[in-house]
Amino acid sequence: MLYTKSIFAALMAAVATAIPYPPEATSAVPPATGTVTFGHKGGNFQPSKTVPVNGVHVDATGGQVNGNLGVHSINNQDGNGAGSDSYTTYSGDGTTGQGWPGQSSWVSFENMFNNNKAIMFGSCSQYGQPNDSGPEIGAIYDSIQEVASETFVDHRFILAIMIQESGGCVRAPTSGTVVRNPGLMQDHNGDATCNSDITGQVDNPCPTSTVTQMIREGAAGTNDGDGLAQCINESQASDVSAFYKAARIYNSGSIDPSGALQSGVATHCYASDIANRLTGWVQAPHTCPYDG
Ligand SMILES: *[C@@H]1O[C@H](CO)[C@@H](O)[C@H](O)[C@H]1NC(C)=O
Ligand SMILES: *[C@@H]1O[C@H](CO)[C@@H](O)[C@H](O)[C@H]1NC(C)=O
Repeated sequence: MLYTKSIFAALMAAVATAIPYPPEATSAVPPATGTVTFGHKGGNFQPSKTVPVNGVHVDATGGQVNGNLGVHSINNQDGNGAGSDSYTTYSGDGTTGQGWPGQSSWVSFENMFNNNKAIMFGSCSQYGQPNDSGPEIGAIYDSIQEVASETFVDHRFILAIMIQESGGCVRAPTSGTVVRNPGLMQDHNGDATCNSDITGQVDNPCPTSTVTQMIREGAAGTNDGDGLAQCINESQASDVSAFYKAARIYNSGSIDPSGALQSGVATHCYASDIANRLTGWVQAPHTCPYDG
């Protein structure tokens, strides 16, 4: 009887955790051989919940993607395989007309996740912290899928931003000057972190609930400011450029009046980097010239 009960409890726990990661999501990979590039210059300036962008204002927590860009089911084979691990510098407004990649050339989530393990398993060394363990990388996998289901933000876009921000180091420190940027997504003054600038506490292992909350605060927004869902909305675009514009807004708080995504404040290569991550870039040399 006790036995039956504990099986039942285990089954219920499995249901509650949803979408468990497949074994290959956490299996070891050879360390990156190239110089991997991630992080940002001087922090992110995600819009605050009180400031309209492009004339639209959306609430800063619980963000969801409206309209045709929202993704309402999880498909891990949703793209062009693994794409190409190369870097192309993009400039202009993020549209295919100005040479940016269409969504048909984005990679599949499964390939993208597995290829980026080469970064994730080693990214904490950049911060002088213990590297992610397999279970922590599994928690990232599950959390991205869970938060994608909540926010309708394409899971590949969440993964690309997370790699850009922290390399997937669950113990990434807080950065930022004007806006405080904690955690995996270096979000707008979120609560979740496994390397607290407030208490000095570093968590190893980083609890799954904290991993999930870090991803959620980056994608769905925080009490103070916008996440990816809000930034996609604020782009006011309904083509693929919405994602590249949203990346620009997440990093710099606005789009330069010229419309060029390499212009304005913060990290000028940011939107180009995201486009490259979405098409397969992992370890190829970062040849973007805009940040000197
Ligand atoms: C973390 O991984 C990197 C890349 O493989 C490696 O150089 C570094 O020694 C690792 N750090 C620790 C503390 O194991
Ligand atoms: C942005 O959100 C507002 C409020 O929910 C909605 O009316 C508008 O259609 C959204 N715009 C886009 C481009 O998703």
